[in-house]
Amino acid sequence: MDQILIFLIVALGLFHIVVAAPERPFSIVIKNGNGLVVNNSAVLTGSSNISAEPVIASPSGSIVNHGGQITYHRLKPNVIQVQVAAKLPNVGARFTVSSDDLFYGVWEYPFFDQITNTNVMFEIKGVGNADGVNWSNARAPFFLTTAGYGVYVDTLQMGSFDFKRPGEAQFIFYTNSLVYYIILPSSPGDYKSIIQEYTALSSRIEMPPDSAYGPTFWSDDFEEDFHGSVSNAQENYYDVINHLYYNEIRATAMFADRPYGTGNMSFGNFDFDPVFYPTPAQFIANLSAYGFDLQVWVANRAFLDTELYNESVAGDWLFPGYTGENFLGPALNLSIPAAYSYFKNRLSAFTDLGVKGYKIDRGEEGEMPVDEQNIQMTLFEQLCYENMVSKWGESNFYTFARSAVDRSRSRTAIWNGDSHSNFSGLAYSVASGIRSGLIGFSQWGVDCGGYVRGVNDPTEELWARWMHFSTFSPAYEIMVGTNHTPWYPPYTDRLVSILKQSANLHTALLPYIRSYTYQATQTGIPLMRALFLEHPQDPKVYTITDSYAFGEEFLVAPIVNEGGSREVYFPSGYSYLEYFNKTDVYQGGTTHSAFLEWEYVPVYVREGAIIPTGDIYEGNFKWSKWEPYLEIQAFPSYNVPESQFEYYNAAKNAAVKITMVANAKQQSLVITYGKLGTPATMIVYGKNGEVNAKLNAQGGSVTLRNFHSLFG
Ligand SMILES: *[C@@H]1O[C@H](CO)[C@@H](O)[C@H](O)[C@H]1NC(C)=O
Ligand SMILES: *[C@@H]1O[C@H](CO)[C@@H](O)[C@H](O)[C@H]1NC(C)=O
Ligand SMILES: *[C@@H]1O[C@H](CO)[C@@H](O)[C@H](O)[C@H]1NC(C)=O
Ligand SMILES: *[C@@H]1O[C@H](CO)[C@@H](O)[C@H](O)[C@H]1NC(C)=O
Ligand SMILES: *[C@@H]1O[C@H](CO)[C@@H](O)[C@H](O)[C@H]1NC(C)=O
Ligand SMILES: *[C@@H]1O[C@H](CO)[C@@H](O)[C@H](O)[C@H]1NC(C)=O
Ligand SMILES: *[C@@H]1O[C@H](CO)[C@@H](O)[C@H](O)[C@H]1NC(C)=O
Ligand SMILES: *[C@@H]1O[C@H](CO)[C@@H](O)[C@H](O)[C@H]1NC(C)=O
Ligand SMILES: *[C@@H]1O[C@H](CO)[C@@H](O)[C@H](O)[C@H]1NC(C)=O
Repeated sequence: MDQILIFLIVALGLFHIVVAAPERPFSIVIKNGNGLVVNNSAVLTGSSNISAEPVIASPSGSIVNHGGQITYHRLKPNVIQVQVAAKLPNVGARFTVSSDDLFYGVWEYPFFDQITNTNVMFEIKGVGNADGVNWSNARAPFFLTTAGYGVYVDTLQMGSFDFKRPGEAQFIFYTNSLVYYIILPSSPGDYKSIIQEYTALSSRIEMPPDSAYGPTFWSDDFEEDFHGSVSNAQENYYDVINHLYYNEIRATAMFADRPYGTGNMSFGNFDFDPVFYPTPAQFIANLSAYGFDLQVWVANRAFLDTELYNESVAGDWLFPGYTGENFLGPALNLSIPAAYSYFKNRLSAFTDLGVKGYKIDRGEEGEMPVDEQNIQMTLFEQLCYENMVSKWGESNFYTFARSAVDRSRSRTAIWNGDSHSNFSGLAYSVASGIRSGLIGFSQWGVDCGGYVRGVNDPTEELWARWMHFSTFSPAYEIMVGTNHTPWYPPYTDRLVSILKQSANLHTALLPYIRSYTYQATQTGIPLMRALFLEHPQDPKVYTITDSYAFGEEFLVAPIVNEGGSREVYFPSGYSYLEYFNKTDVYQGGTTHSAFLEWEYVPVYVREGAIIPTGDIYEGNFKWSKWEPYLEIQAFPSYNVPESQFEYYNAAKNAAVKITMVANAKQQSLVITYGKLGTPATMIVYGKNGEVNAKLNAQGGSVTLRNFHSLFG
């Protein structure tokens, strides 16, 4: 009998698992009725990652060729846990799908400017210098496939994922003991539910403070490029703050990149350089009074002759033989408890001064053995987090990193590394933001304008386009200074006004952005979404890399090429309204050729959308009296009989429902809302103009009769 011998069938709701044997590759097949859902066609073991081969199962289910044990069980109706304990030091698995199925996930970095993993094979480590963006390094051992499921490998060990062969995904880790999960959606095509389940097994982001969303301003070096009467770094920040003030540009935070400290490479003595920061405590208190939180650069790197280096040598904590790229400086082995607690305790020098978060750099620059990258970054992000929590409490500081793995999303947000300051850098950044969301790192930002800058970069055109992208990013963060500041030549007033418009729109969208960020803390579903997460029914959206859903309501199609034109595809199923002028409606399933001046970005709202906007965080708004308010924008359509928005009420730390019911027969609307916590008005957009209504603090409803929808 050489056919597949079924020796275990577990009823799994509608699904059942079939485990194949004997004398054939051990495999786990999950079927739904007669349809194949999952084909985990092999478990692999080997003495090296390259020689790993399928485990052959005996009739009893034990492994015959290499020895070891495989156990599997149904953890939840939709989750199968597989544990492999092998005799050999490399363990992996293979999944077979049909050759046109696509794979997503694992890396933030968009190899070949794709959101899919087609033709990609790489280790689960930092990507170095690469097309579009260097060091774009959020990662997670999790993929999902259009075959209809996800796979999460729960390990910090080094390993590789291989998607090079069409119709196949394979991973191999350098460990003899591996646990992975096969995750089925709650209904076919519900990819969001797969991310939800994955992040339930792994981790979800933590709610950031309101200052986290930005706009955040920083310079690669506040110790140079002085203008006017500026004579040190402190005054250089004030110069930025003053320009924001006089131009009425909203902002919430700043950060000090290296250099800011004393000593070799200006990091490792846990201080601010008194030459440039004569009074750091008062300086940070002043920033706070002006409405800015301050974060500082940190890295697990010990540069010669610093306190960090000397203490590490004395403790024997440095990775021997690893000096690091760019400049020398090995990492500490934070698996050594004394090294971990030393570093964590010394960071108090910053929290004591009022620093409210870290920019965590590096961890993938050869300063440690490659196999340690995932473990060490996890430990470093954890110690930075613990240091911050002990001073400020959870959710009251903002830390972001470029190299972060899996569960660290609950410890740090992400910035996408060193994007190149040109249009390919912008295009890759859009794709990396979408990819970051697919692996559950929702809280994400990019150096607006690009980081790797030539003398003339960014051009005004590029920067204008990039500013709009930052508006529709979870965090708006912009690098100024070092001879690239919008209000100094060669840049013109036109760019300053686009900065203002884009920064202030991001601020106005905070009620929306923060609500989705809260959702990401509860569900793992990101704010910046691949279109197929929202529109799984439309086969045309699965490979789109340059537009995304920003929450459910916005379709964002940044212009990522010179000249101002691009094609915008509207996913089928809904009509869309152009958001800036609010006049043009586009049908789902069609393509529109947009051509826009620097002042605009192709952004559309889905029919039936409810979008809370307003002003809920003061930040640097000091030019007149600040008062919080909400303006709930509604875009009713009779094609969408009921829509809902879950607005995050910060005081209650809970979501409040806003519901809109559109009755086509009666041509009427009822919009119901709960306690929003902030004085609010509503604007309903229709064919005959806008209808304004004042909302009750305790909740209530708005009813409109004879309402004519913009969507026909
Ligand atoms: C699973 O994939 C393997 C490898 O391609 C194939 O041999 C096997 O027939 C597939 N199993 C099912 C049930 O389709
Ligand atoms: C970034 O990567 C490019 C290659 O794509 C390389 O030429 C450049 O030196 C890198 N820049 C930095 C600052 O690392
Ligand atoms: C095997 O490991 C090496 C590093 O040790 C890595 O460069 C290579 O990509 C891996 N190959 C596979 C197939 O996993
Ligand atoms: C703080 O701000 C005040 C008022 O703007 C200013 O006079 C003072 O010099 C600032 N202090 C520091 C340390 O920068
Ligand atoms: C700074 O540290 C690097 C190695 O970390 C070393 O090569 C260099 O000589 C040091 N410079 C000084 C001024 O100590
Ligand atoms: C580190 O040790 C070197 C060599 O002993 C010494 O010259 C230097 O001052 C020390 N630096 C610090 C910051 O402790
Ligand atoms: C790091 O430290 C841990 C704990 O002491 C140790 O087990 C491990 O071997 C060290 N790693 C390296 C590469 O030295
Ligand atoms: C963008 O910059 C990178 C790095 O400087 C360069 O390799 C690439 O060719 C540039 N792309 C374009 C479209 O100019
Ligand atoms: C809005 O209208 C203005 C004036 O007609 C036009 O120049 C601009 O391109 C429009 N913007 C968008 C996004 O359609």
